[in-house]
Amino acid sequence: MNKAVILAGGQGKRMKADMPKPLFKVLGEPMLEWVISACEDASVSDICIIKGFKGEMIDEYLNGRYETALQSERLGTGHAVMQAIPFLKEDESGNTLVLCGDAPFIDAETIRNALVIHNTQQNAVTVITAELDDPHGYGRIIRTATGISGIVEEKDANDAQKAVKEVNSGAYWFRTSDLISLLGQITNDNAQNEYYLTDTISLAISNGLNAGAYKSENAQIIRGANDRKDLLALNDYARMNVIEKHLLNGVEFLCTDGIIIERSVKIGAGTQILPGTIIRRGSVIGENCKLGPNTIIENCTLGNRVNLYTVQAFDSSMGDDVAIGPYVHIRPNTSIDEGTKIGDFVELKNSNIGKKTAIAHLAYIGDSDIGKRVNVGCGTVTVNYDGIEKRRCVIGDNSFIGCNTNLIAPVKLGKAVYTAAGTTVTKDIPDYALAIDRGTMKVNEGYTIRKLKSQIGHTHIGNGNGETQKQ
Ligand code: UD1
Ligand code: CA
Repeated sequence: MNKAVILAGGQGKRMKADMPKPLFKVLGEPMLEWVISACEDASVSDICIIKGFKGEMIDEYLNGRYETALQSERLGTGHAVMQAIPFLKEDESGNTLVLCGDAPFIDAETIRNALVIHNTQQNAVTVITAELDDPHGYGRIIRTATGISGIVEEKDANDAQKAVKEVNSGAYWFRTSDLISLLGQITNDNAQNEYYLTDTISLAISNGLNAGAYKSENAQIIRGANDRKDLLALNDYARMNVIEKHLLNGVEFLCTDGIIIERSVKIGAGTQILPGTIIRRGSVIGENCKLGPNTIIENCTLGNRVNLYTVQAFDSSMGDDVAIGPYVHIRPNTSIDEGTKIGDFVELKNSNIGKKTAIAHLAYIGDSDIGKRVNVGCGTVTVNYDGIEKRRCVIGDNSFIGCNTNLIAPVKLGKAVYTAAGTTVTKDIPDYALAIDRGTMKVNEGYTIRKLKSQIGHTHIGNGNGETQKQ
């Protein structure tokens, strides 16, 4: 069976961070995750990840998804792969893909195409290469009339070798059994005193085995990040790449400022994305929606013609023709049915909101089930938490919740219930009833004048123009 070894031992000193470099994110996902998903997309799912610097952070991130091996000293790329020998020996029958955990743009197509060359040429090793205008810093591919003879690192190269523009991407296919034997032959006799994985090419040839190169059309597969500036450049490239894909699918962008759409997001044709909108993984957006400006959508499913105007929404779903905003926070596990309107300064959490309901302004609805065509007045609050437990509120279809109603959970309101403004609902309300909870209003005439006279002896009452009037 084919397997993969991903090198993720590097620190990335120039990042100036206490984190392994492959965990730095490009478009919301660690670079390591991009590399893992390229393997998975190419149907290589038996993976071992080589960790080194802050290896426990790699384990924590992977959370047991894949095997890891520790390289406790950083002695070169060949030495890193040697740490995977027990993993390789579990099944020596197939091929092993070696990838760098900090070059996120390797893709499944390149991996598959290189494997075809690797197999048809019956190679012990096939290196994936690309041509760069500026090859500085990369290992150069030394071609011969019939194939390749080796890879020379920048620090070991002479002038003629430095002029070569075809470089090593750091990705390879190996016949697993040959890889194990070649690793045993690598020495650290070079300018950096490291065990170079690249030496496997010339070693294979001197062992009478075939070595080949697959040149990728896509030079982006080479790109990695050595510092924060490189990381920003990777993010910029990935961001525009995703936006271009959506443009082809009929999504509209009037300007791309501050728009970040993560890789797996799906968006229907005719949807317009306005500046400052971030759409994160797991989101599926319907057609003809209008999203933004300044909106965050994470792991949400949206129907068609949804309008989110300055909204933050997480782990929730919205039906067709829902309109929300501005300044609305939709917290996880909320479902909003079609035609519903949510207005400014509303927070919803773990609730189901029925069709054509309106929550127009300044409300908190948490842990609640609200029916269809309900009108929730301004300032309505579900009092869902007593400091120990969270409980639910239920509101029946066609109800009208007056402004500043408090619903003390657990409480159930029937169908077409009215609550008077300011009511605190502490018990269930039957269908078609009005609940009113108010003291009798008293009017104490002349109160203000009496108060001022007794306290300060006169009544200078502002007239609103910064002047005062004596009474
Ligand atoms: C390596 C290749 C070079 C290629 C380049 C592509 C070698 C000797 N050279 O060079 O031909 O053009 O990648 O980017 O292989 N790593 C470890 N442990 C180590 C050393 C490295 O895990 O002891 C990991 C790094 O974290 C990184 C990858 O291996 O993910 C590549 O290492 P790096 O030091 O960047 O190799 P280069 O010198 O750039
Ligand atoms: Ca590198």
